[in-house]
Amino acid sequence: MTPQPGFLPRSSPTDDARRRMILGWFVNYMPTAWNRPWAGSDPTSWTDGEFYLDMARALERASIDLVMLEDSSVVPENFGSSMTAEFAATTKSPKHDPLPLAAAISQTTERLGIVTTMSTSLYPPHRLAQLQSTLDQLSDGRAGWNIVTSFENLAAQNVGLDTLWEHDERYSRADEYVRLADEFWTKDSVSFNGSYYQAEVPGTLPPVQRRPVLCQAGGSSSGMDFAAKWADLIVSVPTGLPAMKAYRDGIRQRLESAGNAPDACRVLYMITPILAETVADAEAKEARMYSPDGDNFLRRLVQLSNVSEIDFAQYDLDQPIPEDATTNGAQSILDAMKAATRGSSLRQAMAGKGESTSLRLVGTPQTVADQMEEAMDFVGGDGFLLFHGGGGLISRHYLDEVLDGLVPELQRRGLAQTGYGPGTFGERLAAR
Ligand SMILES: Cc1cc2nc3c(=O)[nH]c(=O)nc-3n(C[C@H](O)[C@H](O)[C@H](O)COP(=O)(O)O)c2cc1C
Repeated sequence: MTPQPGFLPRSSPTDDARRRMILGWFVNYMPTAWNRPWAGSDPTSWTDGEFYLDMARALERASIDLVMLEDSSVVPENFGSSMTAEFAATTKSPKHDPLPLAAAISQTTERLGIVTTMSTSLYPPHRLAQLQSTLDQLSDGRAGWNIVTSFENLAAQNVGLDTLWEHDERYSRADEYVRLADEFWTKDSVSFNGSYYQAEVPGTLPPVQRRPVLCQAGGSSSGMDFAAKWADLIVSVPTGLPAMKAYRDGIRQRLESAGNAPDACRVLYMITPILAETVADAEAKEARMYSPDGDNFLRRLVQLSNVSEIDFAQYDLDQPIPEDATTNGAQSILDAMKAATRGSSLRQAMAGKGESTSLRLVGTPQTVADQMEEAMDFVGGDGFLLFHGGGGLISRHYLDEVLDGLVPELQRRGLAQTGYGPGTFGERLAAR
């Protein structure tokens, strides 16, 4: 591990800047809250991108640092071995490609960072380098790349492979891949002879930034090694304050032991605040959202199947998960769910289970801002990645609650920026 200090100028943030959280929003280009009370007048119009362009403008109005567009190129079949539940629940599909949306967002905003997810297992490196350069040119230096390696074999089959490479090999390949992409961005011509990739070609159109802002979400040890080596920004979901602190410390230690500045990489934690005018109202809202009888129930079960590759349709909802159940998917998730259903049932165990986030944030803008402030004081920095609207689908109503309720409260406390500094997306991040 050596690369970092990346291309970004690394200034030492002032104390005021250090206090200000970096805020991002992670979103999928897919149906909005079409079957929820705040669906809007035409919940089918998500396909034309208009909702997401409005969203990007709203994020910029609230001085949010970046929008991150998710990508995965599969319709999962984990629940009930078919796509039926997936389409009913809309956890990952139907979905459009984020790249054209990123290009459109670049034309309707001026300062917002625009991070697109692209998989090192699915895009040829030169293609990726060129697409990111183009987005950086279109946005005048606001492009970022969320580097993922993909984890679904179905995704591999979409590009003619039978299966994906094994987890750690995906990261070895990704390491070489990013080195090669970096050469495409920075050299006039590239002569590259690696273990996985060879190239003898001219470079691509250089980005406005030396390279796009590199983002990553490595959770495993090899993922964290990769992230600490390359990423300017990490998005993560360790659960609870001690785990959040341990994760950030782990990244910073990796940077330091490679001789790099620990501030060369910033860590954001995924959150989905549930907001209302009183704490009691927010708690009642949360209880409704995650009720075992509510319309989010199936969606959350399908989502759990998708992240764990365990078919939860095989279990009786009103019984505990059998002790002898096994899986080739995420063993830790099956064990946790077994423990949670012991003496109750799968239905009951899902009742209190919200989104997969780092912190439970349920309250008024003031109490949630208190919690976020305390969390940053405890963990040491650097900010948060907002995600969805509770139950997993986004609405303008939810955006308003966060952008007109929570964010102004953070701004009043000097914890969120009230405008954008000068420079490119990367330069602005480096100054935070
Ligand atoms: C906030 C966040 C966003 C992610 N976005 C995507 C995505 O858009 N596409 C994807 O294939 N994987 C995505 N992932 C999965 C990560 O790339 C990674 O595989 C996961 O965090 C597990 O880490 P590991 O690969 O080190 O085991 C995301 C993860 C997190 C935490």
